[in-house]
Amino acid sequence: MTTMVDRAALARNEHMTFRANMGVGRHGWLRLTPAYGVRLAREKMSHLPKGSVVTDPFSGTGTTPLAAAELGHFGQSIDVNPFLIWLGSVKTSHYSPKTLLAVADAARDVVATARARQKDEELWQPRIFKIEKWWSPGALHALKALRASIDQYDGQVKDLLEISLCRVLISCSNAAFNHQSMSFKENSGEITLFEMDEAVRTFAKFDEEASSIIESARFDLIGSAKVHQGDSRKGVPDLKESDLVLTSPPYANRMSYIRELRPYMYWLRHLDLASDAGDLDWRAIGGTWGTATSKLNSWEPATETPVDDAMDAVCGRIAEDGGKNGPLLSTYVRKYHHDMWLHFQAVTPSLRRGGSVCYIVGNSTFYKHEVPVQEWYAAMLRELGYQNVKVEIIRKRNSNKALFEYEVTGTRP
Ligand SMILES: C[S@@+](CC[C@H](N)C(=O)[O-])C[C@H]1O[C@@H](n2cnc3c(N)ncnc32)[C@H](O)[C@@H]1O
Repeated sequence: MTTMVDRAALARNEHMTFRANMGVGRHGWLRLTPAYGVRLAREKMSHLPKGSVVTDPFSGTGTTPLAAAELGHFGQSIDVNPFLIWLGSVKTSHYSPKTLLAVADAARDVVATARARQKDEELWQPRIFKIEKWWSPGALHALKALRASIDQYDGQVKDLLEISLCRVLISCSNAAFNHQSMSFKENSGEITLFEMDEAVRTFAKFDEEASSIIESARFDLIGSAKVHQGDSRKGVPDLKESDLVLTSPPYANRMSYIRELRPYMYWLRHLDLASDAGDLDWRAIGGTWGTATSKLNSWEPATETPVDDAMDAVCGRIAEDGGKNGPLLSTYVRKYHHDMWLHFQAVTPSLRRGGSVCYIVGNSTFYKHEVPVQEWYAAMLRELGYQNVKVEIIRKRNSNKALFEYEVTGTRP
């Protein structure tokens, strides 16, 4: 099987710019549920002159820095999660035609060497709890073989091979999708055939994914980007002064990003033990995975916030009506806003005077009590002297009538 990339175009040094591709492209490399849409990100920076600096203090999958670089700006972003820092950096890198040809060759070799590995060969596998629930024996063997073969490479070639691996490990997982092969497995007594079939399918999928990633990496970026490792509650050194802070921050809804990221993070060796995930989530605003929840019990605020009185009222009701979980959730809401207050104070000096902020955020409810996150953001921005602070509804979130997505904007005086 050969990788179906346009080798001729690459050899002709045909390096397309993003202008030719207003579609999804690199944005589709890895999607995560709470990521805000690229269309919205593009729209929010459409008024900026080329070469502006756009900052996303909560990088996630890197939608903002990538959209900024595609439009000819400089996108910079920050995240606490090492996997997302890697992902954002890989999505926003420039790839020369020569590198992309090398990736195509490497993808072909990776599949060939992985196929040649025997079932009983000792291969590294991540310490995912009950890994057999995630992948069939055939798919797991193929993933281990691909992982071992990819380890022979480094630099940008390895990066793009690893993006392909990430896509494959989700598409052939039993846990993420109700994959067709699941029913095949149940209906068939022929386990050996099934396993072979799954391994072959996994290799073919890798080949297909590598081709499409190489294709989208050909669309070069007019601008550039830098994804920083850091904590957005603190100042991050080396940040350029920004014209616009544009982000979809963590929501106060107990949704841990880490939950969805675990399979990628284990296979890419950003996580080793289950406890690592809880430790990392404790550093994330709004994180409640594993030990992060128990740590909340003993959390004490380090500072007052401008919304303490408003929080007292809402959090009091949550603590009262939430039964045995009420006090914990009330602390969760307090800590979330306390951390966001630290963040607003930290981000302000890096924004140029006259520059603006745009936070796309949802409200939340706990035991039917609304937590008006958007209003509390606005109050914090006003306290810091921002002008024209506005809260606007962007859309309704789901069937819960009380939940909306808002845009909170303001201008630094
Ligand atoms: C809702 S996601 C960001 C979505 C992103 N704007 C996108 O479009 O993909 C929130 C992100 O904030 C990061 N995060 C949480 N706390 C942080 C902190 N203290 N400093 C920097 N990043 C943090 C999380 O790791 C997660 O990637």
